[in-house]
Amino acid sequence: VSRRPLIVVSNRGPISFARAEGGERIARRGAGGLATALRGLLAREEVTWIASAISDEDRALVAETGGLVPEDAGAPCRLRLLAHDPEAYDGFYNVIANPLLWFVQHSLYGLGAQPVLDERFQRAWAGYVAVNNGFAVEVVAALDNAPQAAVFFHDYHLYLAPRVVRDARPDALLAHFVHIPWPQSDGWSVLPVDQRRAVHDGLLANDLVGVHTQRWRRNLVASAADVLGAGRDHDGRVVHRGRTTTITSRPISVDAGEFDALASSAAVLDAEELVVRGRRERLVLRVDRADPSKNIVRGFTAFGLLLDRHPEWHGRVVMLALLDPSREGVPEYDAYRDAIECEAAAVNARHASAGYQPVDLRIVDDFPLSVAGYKQYDVLLVNAVFDGLNLVAKEGPLVNDRAGVLVLSENAGAHEELGEWALTVNPFDVLGQAEALHAALSMDAGERERRADALANQVRTHDVGHWIDSLLDDLAGVSA
Ligand code: F6P
Repeated sequence: VSRRPLIVVSNRGPISFARAEGGERIARRGAGGLATALRGLLAREEVTWIASAISDEDRALVAETGGLVPEDAGAPCRLRLLAHDPEAYDGFYNVIANPLLWFVQHSLYGLGAQPVLDERFQRAWAGYVAVNNGFAVEVVAALDNAPQAAVFFHDYHLYLAPRVVRDARPDALLAHFVHIPWPQSDGWSVLPVDQRRAVHDGLLANDLVGVHTQRWRRNLVASAADVLGAGRDHDGRVVHRGRTTTITSRPISVDAGEFDALASSAAVLDAEELVVRGRRERLVLRVDRADPSKNIVRGFTAFGLLLDRHPEWHGRVVMLALLDPSREGVPEYDAYRDAIECEAAAVNARHASAGYQPVDLRIVDDFPLSVAGYKQYDVLLVNAVFDGLNLVAKEGPLVNDRAGVLVLSENAGAHEELGEWALTVNPFDVLGQAEALHAALSMDAGERERRADALANQVRTHDVGHWIDSLLDDLAGVSA
């Protein structure tokens, strides 16, 4: 099937601009798994990418150029940045996308008290609508330039835009990938009925919707029926407003070659020296954005319980937590960061002794250090409350040198693919996590190697290129 040009649409783009100390404009790689994974796409396809202007320097560039990033500015493809109305964008990003949709989709609310959907929510929803409309206008303009292009929306920031594009261009080929969990229908009842319906109706304006796992796929098919009364056709596609949407489950992955190169890069080798110097006989590692969905506080509690229940590990094991600061300024995230620091300090206060500090917490954006940690861990803890996939669970095993054991939440999407070679934990059961850490630390070498080899092999043979190919094939299938 001959492939069409692609219009990729996401809130965060592949690069973002900043001012260097000398005053010159520099391009930085967009943060997060989505921007990283999609880079592989750019190498293969003709891509126009539409994304939000996020930094001040992004906005300055839009003021100068009207939005199209000049070819020599470091963008890996044709890139158009949108400078949204600041107030609308604030409601869109800091209230609706995060925390509301993020918390609903990761089941993070304690519903006795949160959320409270008041006038602030109403205003923010208007911002979410406005930003989505802004994206849709740009997509329609891009389609006018390239009518054969397929549009590829990403994530929970953009649930409404596909419907607006569909209404304007009924024959356009539209696809959307949702990188986060899709909860069961009842989870969506936190949103008022109009918003709940708008989210589902917008998503089903696409011809193709991708999620990472069968579990999220089942939930999406069920909630489309419950929220909108959508039906199914003989091929299992969802039928809504006289159109069909194919829902596909395609777990995202990483670029194995890129990680191999990183693992032997100077920056990682330097960082590794620090990790080796700080390590004891065993190293438990976690690498995450500082996000409540990642379950960092319970992870420290579990590590403290490990030391309580198995004192033989005292002095012999350190837990290194490398946390990338995220969504600072969103109150839920700021409070969570405090809770992280508090629990790490509590475990250290209980178990530290002369020269031994059991928890080494670092809240820094330091990717080389994370890769160095990946190489050195004996146990990698991924205990997410819920997670669309979790790339750490794939990145670690790819470069680890110590036949390390993966302890993996049953609610991380990666569990569907990797669970048989990991030790599975329930993310709420801290005693279970403590015992899983003990089992991982005590596992004999042969068993560790068997599991570690299988994990690395699975990731290597199902890397991000495989993910991109599968999605492009799905897209060719729906357009045929
Ligand atoms: O899919 C989740 C995601 O959008 C990923 O791209 C990334 O891991 C993270 O969330 C980034 O979040 P933000 O753009 O809010 O920093």
